[in-house]
Amino acid sequence: AGTVKACEASLKRLRVERIDLYLLHWRGTHPFAATIEAMETLIDQGKIGAWGVSNLDLDDMQELLEQDNGHHVQVNQVLYNLSRRGIEFDLRPFAVEQNIALMAYSPIEQGRILKDAALVAVAERHGVTPAQVALAWTLRHPGMISIPKASTVQHVQDNRACLDVTLDATDLAGLDRAFAPPKKRRPLEML
Ligand SMILES: NC(=O)c1ccc[n+]([C@@H]2O[C@H](COP(=O)([O-])OP(=O)(O)OC[C@H]3O[C@@H](n4cnc5c(N)ncnc54)[C@H](OP(=O)(O)O)[C@@H]3O)[C@@H](O)[C@H]2O)c1
Repeated sequence: AGTVKACEASLKRLRVERIDLYLLHWRGTHPFAATIEAMETLIDQGKIGAWGVSNLDLDDMQELLEQDNGHHVQVNQVLYNLSRRGIEFDLRPFAVEQNIALMAYSPIEQGRILKDAALVAVAERHGVTPAQVALAWTLRHPGMISIPKASTVQHVQDNRACLDVTLDATDLAGLDRAFAPPKKRRPLEML
């Protein structure tokens, strides 16, 4: 009931009749089955187009998929950027296998990685900004969605242009040296 109420309040605040993709922010205390039932009701009522989740680690995703209609989940929004690569070990392979999209939140680590020397070096080689390289790096995986937050027009334009940056093997190797990929399972990080 809380999920339906929260959605209705969001529709009002956004002044729209439908939300295309509605996400459960994190696991919380309510059983997945009840939340999924609410999400499906919202779809039936035309209030949302599809639903997804956020901040769910592998074990949570497995549990979600065991529920009725759990496989209707469209996306898992997770912390992913050069300095937060844990999902590459297990969560991403699982999402690919299950055909569930991943959405990288805080893809430039809220600005904290932008002065990193390896990132700056790749950016200089391409004549682009470190933010563009950091975003292009998240998007190197097919099907990955990346959601930088920008509050200036310049940043929005800068970020859009990351789609024109193609990182080559030398770039990726340099970034791997500075930001090592995971060698073992790490619990999903959150911000
Ligand atoms: N699901 C979750 O639990 C969760 C948690 C955290 C965040 N999120 C979502 O993730 C999205 C983004 O995350 P975030 O804001 O935490 O981190 P972020 O996108 O990694 O970083 C945002 C910061 O980077 C700056 N920035 C943006 N584009 C830039 C550019 N081209 N060059 C230099 N600086 C740039 C922004 O400055 P300006 O504002 O000045 O442009 C802002 O200070 C948001 O939609 C947020 O809601 C989700």
